[in-house]
Amino acid sequence: MSAELLIESDGGARAEDGVGHKSAALDNATMMARIADLYFRPGMSIADPMRGSDVFWKHIDRSLYDLRLTDIKDGVDARMLPYADQSFHAVVLDPPYRYVEAATSSAGLRMLEGNGYNLESVRGKGHDAVMGLYRDVMREGERILMRGGYMVVKCQDTITDGKQQWVHSDLMDFARSIGCEPIDLAVVTPAQVPPTRWKIQRSLRKSHSYFIVCRKGGRWPFGYKSVSAR
Ligand SMILES: C[S@@+](CC[C@H](N)C(=O)[O-])C[C@H]1O[C@@H](n2cnc3c(N)ncnc32)[C@H](O)[C@@H]1O
Repeated sequence: MSAELLIESDGGARAEDGVGHKSAALDNATMMARIADLYFRPGMSIADPMRGSDVFWKHIDRSLYDLRLTDIKDGVDARMLPYADQSFHAVVLDPPYRYVEAATSSAGLRMLEGNGYNLESVRGKGHDAVMGLYRDVMREGERILMRGGYMVVKCQDTITDGKQQWVHSDLMDFARSIGCEPIDLAVVTPAQVPPTRWKIQRSLRKSHSYFIVCRKGGRWPFGYKSVSAR
């Protein structure tokens, strides 16, 4: 385990019996460090084309990997990456998954923007636009991924027009449809809940989000061998 992994928001990377990283953490940086420790190996080429403010890499020794960190703010669109087919061992995808409705309070907007979200590509366009962006970047991620490579997708379930949208489940189905088998699922459970327009509560208010880990081609021996020696 890397020294950085000892910086944990919830008192320890490993489960109480000492075996394995826990699947729930209080923040993204902690969970991403666990995923990297478990699935990435030194020398792997990794693309994070929605790097935002690099929160995901906060507890990770970046010198271990051949990292390509870009963002639309740098002029690189994650839907059309300037990389060859099958050229990466892993790809990390974190689109802006909270679309903004006109009625959302400006305080809520400021909180999201302040947290590193660039909401322009989904602002005011609704859940379908968010899901369309996910599908586009996952297709592109699959294109640049080697067989046996890892796709890490960050997402959050949402409610639209009173209907619960199980985004993590929909994205797992979509990943399978493009040949990337979900092999792990982690939950981030921050203490704060996001802003809401609700006046009456009709379902549990959710603050948790997910990391889905997929393997292109599925798990060996049913799919491809991992790109990294285990
Ligand atoms: C949720 S933030 C990512 C946060 C990041 N994981 C971090 O650790 O700070 C979403 C990012 O996606 C970027 N983005 C939105 N649309 C994009 C696109 N089409 N291509 C590349 N980046 C995009 C935004 O600029 C924003 O920085």
